[in-house]
Order: sequence, then structure tokens, then C-alpha cells
Amino acid sequence: MEVVIVPDAAAGGELIASAIGRLLTEKPDALLGVATGSTPVPVYRALAAKVSSGEVDASRARVCQLDEYVGLPPGHPESYRSVVLRQVVEPLGVDPAAFMGPDGAAEDVRAACLAYDEALAAAGGVDLQLLGIGSDGHIGFNEPCSSLSSRTRIKTLTERTRQDNARFFDGDIEQVPHHVITQGIGTILDARHLVLLATGEGKAEAVAQTVEGPLAAVVPASALQLHPHATVVVDEAAAAGLKHADYFRHTYANKPSWQGI
Ligand code: F6R
Repeated sequence: MEVVIVPDAAAGGELIASAIGRLLTEKPDALLGVATGSTPVPVYRALAAKVSSGEVDASRARVCQLDEYVGLPPGHPESYRSVVLRQVVEPLGVDPAAFMGPDGAAEDVRAACLAYDEALAAAGGVDLQLLGIGSDGHIGFNEPCSSLSSRTRIKTLTERTRQDNARFFDGDIEQVPHHVITQGIGTILDARHLVLLATGEGKAEAVAQTVEGPLAAVVPASALQLHPHATVVVDEAAAAGLKHADYFRHTYANKPSWQGI
């Protein structure tokens, strides 16, 4: 995997937004897999600025969710559908009809999970999947010990993740759902390019285990080691635990600019 160390979150956002812009130039109807949470916000801001300035045209792009809470009422402002509409679909001018996600309000959750995997495959697969990482090493909501070949399914959040996400629910962990639908690790690995962004010291240990630790279900993000095109973008704080940081800096500094990430 490629590791790119950037000075701060804004630089990470700019780098990834440029890569998405490049993809949309080559493939205007690319299917973009998007994550939620705090980390990807600088990416979406940078991309929206490129769309506003006319540098990037996302009008034909397609967007799909990585995961969704189970049991939030439709239209809840913190459902990931609402968040992606607010942060990605609307600001980028993506056609809402070209936006899909798992149905967290479905009565038959298992059928909804299966239907989502089928819809992703029918759409031709995800071209670029943006990922954050949990402080416990999760990607999507594949919590530690998730099967490395899992498909989209229901998962139970750890208390640590619910605590981490309570900030989106007025700081009240009781309001954070216990269950989610998440693309499985196998589903995520089907995307053609995986781009994981991690920022802040709270992610340093998870990043070190992901990049330099063994491939292990206990660190779900370590599954990126299996992917032929995985890019990990980290700010200085999140890179703090990397033993090979100097090598990663050297490699990126000497990379031909036409290669992109
Ligand atoms: C959300 C998701 C999660 C987050 C992770 C980090 O769609 O897939 O894996 O990326 O929990 O969240 P933040 O960025 O808020 O620290």
C-alpha cells in the first residue's frame, strides 16, 4: 500500500479531492464510495470548491454509502443518508437519483444488506472508496474481529465506537444506535481504489497497526494490505506511530507527479 504523509487534514483533503477530480475527468460517471464522520469533511469541502470553480464536474458522478445506522427514523439529521446528501450530493451537484445506500429502516435488514451488495455489483462496482478509520481500527463499521471476507451485513457497534460517535448526538451515548448496516470488508475490497484518510493523534495507533502490523481481523483496516491499489493518507499526528515514516516520505517525494495517488 502507498502511505502519503501530509502536513495537516486540509492538505489531505486537497490531495484526495484532486485524485477524485482526476478520476471524474477520466470517467465522469465514476461510482464514488463515501465515508461519513469528521475525517472526510476536508475532502468534501475541497471537492465542493473545485466544483464551484469549474475545475471539476461531478454532475454525472454516482455516489454510494459505506454504512448506515439501523433504526434511526427516515430523515434523521444524523442518518448517514442525510449526512451524505448534505455533505456530498448537494454541494457537488450530484443527481440524487445517482445516490444509493443501504436501507437502515428496512423491516427485513438481511434482505436490505443483500440487496445493497447486489446493487453495488449491478452498478459496475465502486471506482474509488474513501475510508476513515475508527480508533479501534474499524473500516466502515467492521469492528475488530470482523471477517476479512465479510459482505454487507448488520453489525453491533462497540461501546468505544458509540462513545466516539456520541458527539454527533448531543454528546449522549444513549442516542447512538447499537446497530448498523455496513459494507463488509470483502465488499470494500471489491472497490478499484481504496483511499483511507486518518487525521489526529487519536488514530496514530490504529494507523500503525494497519500499515505496519500483521494482517489480522482484530485490526479490520489491515485488510487494505490485501488490496492492489490502496492509498493511506495521514497527517503528521496520525503518522506518529509509523516506524517507516521516513521511507514513506522519501517514496512520495520522489514519485513522478503524473502518477497521482
Ligand atoms: C463512517 C465510517 C467509519 C468512520 C470512522 C472514523 O461512515 O465508515 O468507519 O470513518 O468511525 O470516524 P471519524 O472520521 O469521525 O473519526
